[in-house]
Amino acid sequence: MSDYWSQYWKQGHLTSFGEEIKGNYQGLLADTWKAFFKNNDDTASILDIGTGNGALLALAREANNNTNLFGIDSATLSITQELAVDPQMKFFSNIQAESLPFNDAKFDVGVSQFGIEYSNLTLAIPELSRVLKSGAKFQFVLHDSQSSIVKPNNLILKAAHELNAQEGALTTMERMIQQIGSHGDSSKGADVERVKLNQLIGELVAKNRQGIWGTNFPSFLKYVMSKNWGVEKRLEMLSLFKKELLGQVERLTDLIDASLNENKYQLLTDLCADSSLEVSEFALLNERGNIIARKVNGFKR
Ligand SMILES: C[S@@+](CC[C@H](N)C(=O)[O-])C[C@H]1O[C@@H](n2cnc3c(N)ncnc32)[C@H](O)[C@@H]1O
Repeated sequence: MSDYWSQYWKQGHLTSFGEEIKGNYQGLLADTWKAFFKNNDDTASILDIGTGNGALLALAREANNNTNLFGIDSATLSITQELAVDPQMKFFSNIQAESLPFNDAKFDVGVSQFGIEYSNLTLAIPELSRVLKSGAKFQFVLHDSQSSIVKPNNLILKAAHELNAQEGALTTMERMIQQIGSHGDSSKGADVERVKLNQLIGELVAKNRQGIWGTNFPSFLKYVMSKNWGVEKRLEMLSLFKKELLGQVERLTDLIDASLNENKYQLLTDLCADSSLEVSEFALLNERGNIIARKVNGFKR
């Protein structure tokens, strides 16, 4: 996984939903965690795996003033001043869930939201168990492959791959820009590429309208071709778009790989069982008719 999470957290977001959420998680996700944290002991030590900028620990703090909160993440975090000054909240950047810098049996509670599933579970689950006390509680809220968060991204990823294919829309657009630059807008060469590009886009839209819009390519193409930019400027914008598209492909591939399908869920529960973590509840979180995540909780034997 590249360092895109560090770049993301640097932008100052509290949650992993960017501009879509102002402040902290709301609705079912927040309620799920408030209900869980409310039942913890006043002096519990809580470890959050893949904590990001600490959204979950902020919810834990709202539920209880005295708990000791620890968050680890493989990215470089950019914690807001409000959380950073809390003397009982500690964040550890550049720490892998697979190898935790804590003594055995240190924590009373282990949590993770959209975090631990990105790690190598075969290593991370025994590692979490190692640092939990006997009787400690755990709860994970995990990406589900069928959720309304993950599912649309399959379509975007598919469209991004097709745009980027060898004789795909991006290559054709590049050739069209070059032809316009060398021989003029109404030259035969420009026309050939324009017709090919329109045909490719038509096919992509017919097959996967949602995905292609999700890549932003139609608006990008309109913007680049509508103004009288010079050839250099157009190629520069295209190159930037390609770079961002590759970043998007990487992020979405990670998200889809991280999300739980039945096989990965089976692996998770098997690993929990092998690591003395007893799963007592499993639920699909369903908000207004849409699955948004999988919740798994239990305790260490
Ligand atoms: C989708 S974000 C979730 C952040 C936060 N839990 C939240 O709900 O807002 C996933 C986080 O997991 C972290 N992560 C990915 N792989 C990890 C690993 N192997 N160990 C620790 N953290 C990891 C990423 O750096 C990222 O910050």
